[in-house]
Amino acid sequence: MWAKSFGICLLALGPTVSAGILGQRSSDSFSLYAYGDSIGGLPLYYADGNAVIANHTPDNATDVGQVAFTPGSSGPLVGNPANETDTSGKRSGSGSFKNQQLFVPSANSTDHQVGFTASASSDQVTSKFIWYGHFLLVETDDGEYTSLFYAKKNNSQEGAYSLQWNITDDDEDGEYYSVSMRSIAPSNA
Ligand SMILES: *[C@@H]1O[C@H](CO)[C@@H](O)[C@H](O)[C@H]1NC(C)=O
Ligand SMILES: *[C@@H]1O[C@H](CO)[C@@H](O)[C@H](O)[C@H]1NC(C)=O
Ligand SMILES: *[C@@H]1O[C@H](CO)[C@@H](O)[C@H](O)[C@H]1NC(C)=O
Ligand SMILES: *[C@@H]1O[C@H](CO)[C@@H](O)[C@H](O)[C@H]1NC(C)=O
Ligand SMILES: *[C@@H]1O[C@H](CO)[C@@H](O)[C@H](O)[C@H]1NC(C)=O
Repeated sequence: MWAKSFGICLLALGPTVSAGILGQRSSDSFSLYAYGDSIGGLPLYYADGNAVIANHTPDNATDVGQVAFTPGSSGPLVGNPANETDTSGKRSGSGSFKNQQLFVPSANSTDHQVGFTASASSDQVTSKFIWYGHFLLVETDDGEYTSLFYAKKNNSQEGAYSLQWNITDDDEDGEYYSVSMRSIAPSNA
C-alpha cells in the first residue's frame, strides 16, 4: 500500500484532556470535510450507506447526498441530507436517507470502510466521536483520541474517494491518503 503521512495522524492527547477543552458544536447543522496533502476540504457524502468524500455528487450510488449533521456535544453524529449545491450546480443533498449515524469500524473489525447506520452493530463505533476544535477524533478502547481517516482513491471515480479507517501496512493494495475530518468548509467553497 501507499500512504502519505499527515501531521496529526495520531493525536495522543490522552484521557486527561477534559471535555471542556474539546470543541462544542454551534447550534447550526454542520457538514464534514476531508483535508490532506492533496485533498483540500472535500465534503462528506452518504452513498448507499458508505462514506465517500468527493468534489461532486458521486454518480455511482442511488441514495446519495452531502450530509448535514445535527449538533450535539456528545453522542452519535446523526446525518441527514444537506441542503447544498455542488460545484456542478446539482443539489448535493438530495438523498432519501434519514437519521443515519456515522460510524468507524471497531478495532476488531477487518473492514475499513467508514459508513452510516441506523442501528450500529458491535463492529460499528458510533458513540466515540470527540471534537478537538474543528477536528473530528475518535476515542480508542484505551482512551486515546485519534484520527485514522484515509481517503482511498478509485481511478474509475475521478474526484471521489472512499473514506476508510485505520489502514495499516498489511492491508490490501490501493492508493490511500491520510486525511483529517473537520467541521469547517474550505475558504474557497
Ligand atoms: C435550501 O436552500 C435554498 C437555497 O439556498 C433555500 O431557499 C431553502 O430555504 C433551503 N431549504 C431548507 C430546508 O433549508
Ligand atoms: C487498528 O488496527 C490495528 C491492527 O488491526 C488494531 O490493533 C488497532 O486496535 C486498530 N486501532 C483502532 C483505533 O481501531
Ligand atoms: C476485541 O477483541 C478482544 C479479544 O478477542 C476482546 O477482548 C474485546 O472485548 C473486543 N473488543 C470489542 C470492542 O469488541
Ligand atoms: C471503483 O468504482 C467502480 C465503479 O463505481 C466500482 O465498480 C469499484 O468497485 C470501485 N472500486 C473500489 C476499489 O472501490
Ligand atoms: C463509488 O465510488 C466510491 C468512491 O470511489 C467508492 O467508495 C464506492 O465503493 C463506489 N460505489 C460503488 C457501488 O461502486
